[in-house]
Amino acid sequence: MSEQFSFQTRLLHNNQKVDKETGAVSVPIQHASTFHQFDFDQFGTFDYGRSGNPTRAALEETIAELEGGVQGFAFASGMAAISTAFMLLSKGDHVVVTTDVYGGTFRFVTQVLSRLGIEYTFVDMTNLDEIEASIQENTKVIYVETPSNPTMKITNLKEVVALAERYECLTFVDNTFMTPALQRPIELGVDVVLHSATKFIGGHSDVIAGLAVVKDEELGKQLAFLQNSFGSVLGVQDCWLVLRGLKTLHVRMEHSSKAAHQLALWLKEQSAVERVYYPGLEGHSGYDIQKEQADGFGAVLSFELKDKDAVRQFVNNVKVPVFAVSLGAVESILSYPATMSHAAMPSEERQQRGITDGLLRLSVGLESVEDIKNDFSNAFESLAVTK
Ligand SMILES: Cc1ncc(COP(=O)(O)O)c(C=O)c1O
Repeated sequence: MSEQFSFQTRLLHNNQKVDKETGAVSVPIQHASTFHQFDFDQFGTFDYGRSGNPTRAALEETIAELEGGVQGFAFASGMAAISTAFMLLSKGDHVVVTTDVYGGTFRFVTQVLSRLGIEYTFVDMTNLDEIEASIQENTKVIYVETPSNPTMKITNLKEVVALAERYECLTFVDNTFMTPALQRPIELGVDVVLHSATKFIGGHSDVIAGLAVVKDEELGKQLAFLQNSFGSVLGVQDCWLVLRGLKTLHVRMEHSSKAAHQLALWLKEQSAVERVYYPGLEGHSGYDIQKEQADGFGAVLSFELKDKDAVRQFVNNVKVPVFAVSLGAVESILSYPATMSHAAMPSEERQQRGITDGLLRLSVGLESVEDIKNDFSNAFESLAVTK
């Protein structure tokens, strides 16, 4: 990819800009499950579709370049990417994980890795001392989500990388909320970047996909082996959808982050709202770190209403966002973490992490901010009426 171009331009002007054979301005979808070998002794780049496919390779190369890594991998879902990466661990190893990690990752760590004899400790990743205290002799991975989900805590990636290097463990970062448009963890020294490409990277609520990018060739070899062994690769139609989504990533992230910032400031002033979580608010404890390590604050925010009844009333009255599991799309998505993203987490664990029954998460899409404010104002008024 042309290094002299900015990220925004490189989304469009990269190795996949035109098909080398036909000039097609769209990556061809190659459905073949197998590839004829022209030479008995010397196989070509592609032999069998699970091990490699040209359309998937186009996506894998693109995401590796955008994240600044050496190799990319496309998986059937974000969870497939995350669980395959965790398979870099072996029985007897230990992993340190962000407390308010995505619910599906929590489920995988606590109910699957534990059965395989891999130990874990959840820590508040905003507290470096707590991370260090949790590191054991067998700790192999520090797993970070920043901003965390849904309480938007910010982890200082450079500090965690330095700590991991000192204790000779790897760092994994789930970069779903930021995308490489806003944050490139590998540039900060992180070893493996993971994505639910179902979210902002795909961007249109029409594909389930996962991506991983590694910092060095050795990790690349290991993950390629695991990707082929597990076989949870992304289908070619879906690879194409993700490649198409990537083309507008910058403009979508720019619009939605700006809108999320405006909404966070506005929500803070609403009497029905008890608390707003958004790293772009100056009072947010991670504001300075986020400003330094990322190019923006992102398009997701969370806010707390009085209780579950208030949430129900509000959700039943808003018209603009869809009320759904997921985030990172052209349409705004309102989610209720307690029964959606964090349903896999036991209630006490959720409460401890601040994921209360009054908490809603909003992923801001491409609608007009004024329309969202008017819509929310009307819904808040309905709360006041029924108080
Ligand atoms: C931060 C984060 N990581 C990972 C995942 C899992 O991704 P997928 O649903 O594509 O398997 C999600 C899904 O919501 C997520 O929000």
